[in-house]
Amino acid sequence: MFDNKNPIDVFKMWLDEATKTEINDPNAMAIATVDEKGIPQNRMVLLKDIVGEDLVFYTNKNSQKAKAMKANKNVAVLFHWKSLSRQVRITGVVEFADKDNDQEYFSSRSTMSRLGAIASKQSQVLADKKILIDKVDELKKEYSDLEDKKIPCPEYWGGYKIKPNKIELWMDGENRLHDRFEYTKDKNNNWVGSRLYP
Ligand SMILES: Cc1cc2nc3c(=O)[nH]c(=O)nc-3n(C[C@H](O)[C@H](O)[C@H](O)COP(=O)(O)O)c2cc1C
Repeated sequence: MFDNKNPIDVFKMWLDEATKTEINDPNAMAIATVDEKGIPQNRMVLLKDIVGEDLVFYTNKNSQKAKAMKANKNVAVLFHWKSLSRQVRITGVVEFADKDNDQEYFSSRSTMSRLGAIASKQSQVLADKKILIDKVDELKKEYSDLEDKKIPCPEYWGGYKIKPNKIELWMDGENRLHDRFEYTKDKNNNWVGSRLYP
């Protein structure tokens, strides 16, 4: 069914469908990293943009995942849309996204999301939630005279882009005879797909 299609186009089509059918966060993806000791770790992030073939998400650049991605640029992401009974597996290599877009995307977020991102030392121990709440209150005062959009994006927060090198599209099939198509890149950087046994 998808043999001759570009998997990114199919992925975008599925994501559009999921946007209509999922209860929330159709763009949520589990991202697996491998740290400097070879230990894998998974967590959810939100896919915020697809630029060409690159998948863009935003996070804290001092977080656990950021440290792992610095040590090992290979990542894997996974989407599962229960409402569609479909799964997409993507592996790729991660890089910082265009720094110019960080402020732009940061400014598009709600004020509280921005202050939260500034205040959060993501993945570090927080002895008491009050410390974080107080920090956000402090920032509210600090930025009260700034026009909302001008709150600066901290240098420790921003986008990463994943450059896919393998994509698997999985669709639920009758009698568990599911459809799986795996795509890799040939030497000309074109996607080549094969059907896999389920
Ligand atoms: C649905 C969902 C979406 C999330 N989206 C993001 C995101 O876009 N960026 C982010 O930094 N954390 C996001 N989180 C929180 C992460 O899963 C994770 O807790 C956090 O980034 C710290 O991960 P780390 O310690 O592995 O770096 C999300 C969590 C959920 C459940």
